[in-house]
Amino acid sequence: MVENFKKLKETLTKFGQEHLLLKYNEMTDSEKKQLIDQISDIDFELISKLYENTKKDVEYSDDKIEPISYVDKANLTEEEKQNYSEIGEKIIKEKKLGFITMAGGQGTRLGHNGPKGTFPLIGEKTLFELICDTLKKNNNIYNVTIPWYIMTSKENNDETINFFEKKNYFNYPKEAIFFFKQGELPMVNEEGKILLDKNGFVKEAADGHGGIFEALYQSNLLDDMKSRGLEWLFISGIDNPLVKMVDPIFIGLTIKNNCLIAGKSLVKSKPEEKVGVFCKRNGRPSVIEYTEITDEMSKMRDEKGELLYGEAHVIMNMFNIKALEMLAKNKLPYHSAHKKAEYINEKGELVTPTEPNAYKFESFIFDSFSNLDNMLIMRVKREEEFAPVKNAKGEDSPETARKLFNDYQKNN
Ligand code: UTP
Repeated sequence: MVENFKKLKETLTKFGQEHLLLKYNEMTDSEKKQLIDQISDIDFELISKLYENTKKDVEYSDDKIEPISYVDKANLTEEEKQNYSEIGEKIIKEKKLGFITMAGGQGTRLGHNGPKGTFPLIGEKTLFELICDTLKKNNNIYNVTIPWYIMTSKENNDETINFFEKKNYFNYPKEAIFFFKQGELPMVNEEGKILLDKNGFVKEAADGHGGIFEALYQSNLLDDMKSRGLEWLFISGIDNPLVKMVDPIFIGLTIKNNCLIAGKSLVKSKPEEKVGVFCKRNGRPSVIEYTEITDEMSKMRDEKGELLYGEAHVIMNMFNIKALEMLAKNKLPYHSAHKKAEYINEKGELVTPTEPNAYKFESFIFDSFSNLDNMLIMRVKREEEFAPVKNAKGEDSPETARKLFNDYQKNN
């Protein structure tokens, strides 16, 4: 134990992170253990590399970016729809479809006090409940109970589960709902020092929605899914109450095209819209972010006048279980985000910044796409499937989402 502690101190010195023990001597034995466990889990080489990357200028990579082909659902003939539907319905009725909601994000832009899914959007109905309603409706149509997996973070896991308990799981069969926690990474300040939270523990943040693959693996849920006979998992975020997670045509198209992953796309509303778009990167499926695409590329159009890079990726994806298993073993790259983070300084005083002061590192689910040779992309109608809740006010806010949601209900 003493030997281990000595080693740990040497590591901290080597990486200039000795301050992580600032509160150690004031801690109880169990707190000491908790802090040591946290520190022992840190990959200091990785964190210092990620910090160094934050100092590099954003540069356009020399990846070869090309448009990717997609199927417009609106252009399918009745016969095609019928054929794809039959294949998809068979999958659903044979209980081979599961659903994953990623709800581990911090929802900082919305600023709701509590996990984002607990935000009441339509009267008392929260985002969790609205999504659950759609699932229940589909369960009735197909006479199944679709297993619902919910990814949380260390920060919001207990609150999320308590909320479901309090709401009696919205009368969804409790045994068909599974929570799993995603991983975390320490946050660093602008000098690369790892931050301490108000209690003297390492300040960590969820490792991005790309953490889903490892989290599924670590929680043994992939095995659970296999033992239930699940083959396809629809994966989306918590912030879209119009998500259509049970879509037989989408499933049928994916299977007919021999793809193991698929994504629903929306037409970009204008070239400047701040959203990533599907593309091919070095010949493989990918997403090019709005920060990465050049002005010129974002305005390019094909002979029909459609944007060449116009298929927005809004996290409505489907993965075959084989793809999930493969991706669980692959590491995704980390990106950094400049954020406001409360911390204690070297004098032990709590600092609440008003400007971004720290870096958070995250991986993105769409970075996984290029591990596969191809991907099915199906364009769907924005007004039928997308009502994002991102910001507290203005664009993509509860107000705009409420209108989109209510308009859809009125017309369907
Ligand atoms: P966003 O990237 O919009 O992040 O997540 P967010 O946490 O909801 O909001 P901001 O950026 O802090 O304002 C898109 C979806 O991915 C999930 C979110 O919960 C949301 O459903 N997500 C994001 C995770 O599950 N884990 C993460 O680490 C990040």
